[in-house]
Amino acid sequence: MRLSCLIHRLAVVALVLHLGLLFSFAQNQNKNHPWMNTKLSPDERASMVLKEMTLDEKISLLHGTGMAGLSPLSPEIVHSNGGAGYVVGIPRLGIPGIQMSDAAYGVRMSGENGRYSTALPSCVGGSASWDLDAAYEYGALIGRELRAQGYNMTLGGGVNLTREPRNGRTFEYMGEDPVLAGTMVGQAIKGLQAQHVLGDIKHYALNDQESGRNAVNITIDKRAARESDLLAFEIGIQQGDPAAVMCSYNRLDGDYACENKYLLNEVLRKDWNFKGFVLSDWGGTHSLEKASAAGMDHEEPGWIFYGEELKKAVEAGKVPQAELDDHVRRILRAMFATGVVDDPPQRSVVDVMGGFEIARKIEEGSIVLLKNEGGQLPLDAATLHTIAVIGPHADVGMISGGGSAQVDPPGGNAILPPGKGQTRWLEAIWFPTSPLRTIQKRAPGASVQYDSGADPAHAAALAKAADVAIVFAYQWESEDMDLPSLSLPEHQDDLIAAVAAANPHTVVVVESGGAVTMPWVGQVSAIAEAWYAGSSGADAVVNVLFGDVNPSGKLPQTFPRSEADLPHPTIVKPTRENMADWSKPDTWKQIAAGLKAFPVTYDEGVKVGYKWYDAENKPVLFPFGFGLSYTTYSYSNLQVAPGKSPSVSFTVTNTGKRAGAEVAEVYASLPAAANEPPKRLVGWNKIKLNAGESKTVTVAVDPKYLSIFNVEKNGWQLLPGEYKFMVGGSSQDLPLKEAVSLQ
Ligand code: BGC
Repeated sequence: MRLSCLIHRLAVVALVLHLGLLFSFAQNQNKNHPWMNTKLSPDERASMVLKEMTLDEKISLLHGTGMAGLSPLSPEIVHSNGGAGYVVGIPRLGIPGIQMSDAAYGVRMSGENGRYSTALPSCVGGSASWDLDAAYEYGALIGRELRAQGYNMTLGGGVNLTREPRNGRTFEYMGEDPVLAGTMVGQAIKGLQAQHVLGDIKHYALNDQESGRNAVNITIDKRAARESDLLAFEIGIQQGDPAAVMCSYNRLDGDYACENKYLLNEVLRKDWNFKGFVLSDWGGTHSLEKASAAGMDHEEPGWIFYGEELKKAVEAGKVPQAELDDHVRRILRAMFATGVVDDPPQRSVVDVMGGFEIARKIEEGSIVLLKNEGGQLPLDAATLHTIAVIGPHADVGMISGGGSAQVDPPGGNAILPPGKGQTRWLEAIWFPTSPLRTIQKRAPGASVQYDSGADPAHAAALAKAADVAIVFAYQWESEDMDLPSLSLPEHQDDLIAAVAAANPHTVVVVESGGAVTMPWVGQVSAIAEAWYAGSSGADAVVNVLFGDVNPSGKLPQTFPRSEADLPHPTIVKPTRENMADWSKPDTWKQIAAGLKAFPVTYDEGVKVGYKWYDAENKPVLFPFGFGLSYTTYSYSNLQVAPGKSPSVSFTVTNTGKRAGAEVAEVYASLPAAANEPPKRLVGWNKIKLNAGESKTVTVAVDPKYLSIFNVEKNGWQLLPGEYKFMVGGSSQDLPLKEAVSLQ
């Protein structure tokens, strides 16, 4: 027998044996464990497992094992997949461990674990697409890459409202409007959980600034909270049905979020009927009996409270057995419901090329064209002789968001020499997606020159000699910090002003996690907001700049003129007595014991973002929902069908010469008796239109989005009266208006 033939036969035998083993394992599971019957409901299955569990096994599901690299606590950590959290499974009952990874815009720590992940555009960028399919695909890609890397749970799903635009995590969130943010995060969770990965939504709730996040005590009027930050969670949970909610670090009305009866039991469980489990943010658990009674199910990353202490408390009757069982049942139920027991992750090779393409497409739909004077864009590669590319690191890459959301770029930080570029906490990381090289490729006939902008005069001289100057500006953000201001750092405002003074054809591409101020707005001819653009950022941006793609993103947050116009011109900061001492070995314990609180009052209440500027009559730099296109659209023929679930129909026409996609936005004003800000977003539709084409669309409006939250009745209430519906292409450009009376 020839050798190759023998090898082939052996391979076939091995395959048959392997399949046989898999089959018998599956049969064993079915035979031994009645809860492996997928015809039973997740609730039934969870209750059956629960009955078999010992007290120790139950408790083992209620806490993590520490953090693999940072603070390993249990010998079991050797089985961690390298993510931020690992919960041991119960093999004798067929319950797998939970391997958690941060995955806000891609799977975290892949580089240091010898793996690879795609970086999608930042979450706020995804939200700027206003595209439900894109949001679903966003979550699905992350779900696939988590599974491929051996994880079965994400710690993504950030949806805190951009109430404070200097918050260092705005890039991880979905903007300032609860309906937009909640809907987009819900879609992303659906896409993720369809891959049989446990989904998460965070940070619940009102964790809208990073400064002093472990100590701050937030106060806000109840109605305002329900109509703003909590509404985003309500919608996200209703539409996405996530397995888990991560409770946040801050206090609300004196109680930490992770032991807050109002947030966890009353709102989340009773009012929203949330069936999943609540896990604490890392080090966000501050008590045992109080947290448990409030409905906090799972402590991370270790077990200061939910380990031995919990066992003793159950044995002493201080934590009722039924309460303990509820915690465990919720986790088991979520595991069955999401499919992580029936379909555990299969390690495989991440689809790198597919990821590049998806990241590019999402970014192309997310870039917001903010200014385009005289049709400066799109650029015509055929007629340009010289192009000046200017800006810090625009020769090598584009910046990304930091903290626990950070995705590792292939090859390490693109601005460091190869091999030296590992990601470090609170260090800005650039992805190897080079604007300069991509422009050179797109305009092969032009001379494309680069200047870092370190010396504005030097950059201006290069710009002066060019047909067009493209400045790539950035504003870096990270968890664990807030921005000192909304200004671009590193004197980039001076750089842009100098370049614009030298060349009337100056295009600025902003890479930021949210709003920035633009003192040079009147001097440049075009501005594009690219967010943190992800793995294929340069391709997407260049496709928009050169007109291969018609921009269609709209701002998910207002860009104010200056910090002076914000509800809080300065962020309230902690003092030393509100901060943990990281030089001490037992900082986790110090935080767990509770840091001295300092107050932050969200006295703007429901007036978050555009609702604030509208109500206060403050002009803005660029309004919520705004974004230009290379074509133009007109709106006509508004019809509102009143009734219990009103619907709004209208026609959008592409009146220009290019195909495009328009985000058509529907806002409503409530009757005066509601005492609400002038308008709120109640729906939208992103419509693709060829040149000259018209489409009539109907937006069904959820009556909740027209309601106020009645605190006394603890429910949503639609006030009878006159509602004005307004339709158009931005919160400040609403040509169609119709008032109807609703009962
Ligand atoms: C962050 C969470 C994150 C967790 C685990 C915390 O510091 O606030 O968003 O999921 O760490 O990395």
